[in-house]
Amino acid sequence: MSALETIRSDLSDTTGTRFTIVLGDITGLSVDAIVNAANSSLLGGGGVDGAIHRAAGPELVAECRMLNGCKTGQAKITKGYRLPARHVIHTVGPVWNGGGNGEDELLAGCYRNSLGLAREHGLKSIAFPAISTGIYRFPALPAAEIATRIAVAESADGAFSEIIFCCFGDEMARLYDRLLPEALASA
Ligand code: AR6
Repeated sequence: MSALETIRSDLSDTTGTRFTIVLGDITGLSVDAIVNAANSSLLGGGGVDGAIHRAAGPELVAECRMLNGCKTGQAKITKGYRLPARHVIHTVGPVWNGGGNGEDELLAGCYRNSLGLAREHGLKSIAFPAISTGIYRFPALPAAEIATRIAVAESADGAFSEIIFCCFGDEMARLYDRLLPEALASA
C-alpha cells in the first residue's frame, strides 16, 4: 500500500483542530510528526516501525541508538530524516495479553505522551497509526476508542492544527469513521 486516500476531513473540535482519517502508508504523510508504533529497544522492527525506518534511512536508527530505549506507554522524539514528516515520535504500545494487565491505560499513555511531546516541541500536525493493533494484537475496537478519546481530550487546549489517524486497511478506516464523530460529540 503506498497511495494515501483521505477518508474523512470534515471533522473539527471547538478549538479548530481538524481530525482527519486517511487510508494508506503513514510514511507518505507531510506533517510535523508521524508517530511510530515501536518496541522498547527503539531499534526498529516489523510493521509500521519497519516501514518508517526504511523510509527515513539509516540516520534514524543512529539517532534512536542514543535514546536508551523507551518504556511501554512512553514516547521519545527524533528527526524525520528522509521522510516527508519533520519528526518521528516513537511510542511503545502494550502487547495485548487479555486486557487485564493495564493494556488500556498503557495505550492511552501512548497517545497522551505522544501528543504531550508534540505540544512541548510546538508541533501542530501529527499523524498516528493504530498503535498496538498489529503485531501486538490489541483488538481494533477498544484501541480505536482509546485513540479517538485521548486525542480529542488532548486537543482541547487548541495546541494542534491537525490530528490524523492513518489506517492501514478499510476495516480500520470504517471503525475510525464511526468512532471519531462519537468521541467529538461526547467531549
Ligand atoms: N502505515 C500505517 N499503518 C501501518 C503501516 C504503515 N506503513 N504498517 C502497518 N500499519 P504494527 P504494533 C498498521 O504491527 O501492533 C514492530 O515490530 C497495522 O496494520 O506495526 O504496535 C515494532 O518494532 C496496524 O493497524 O505495530 C514492535 O515490535 C498498526 O499499524 C511491534 O511491531 C500497528 O501495527 C509493535 O506492534
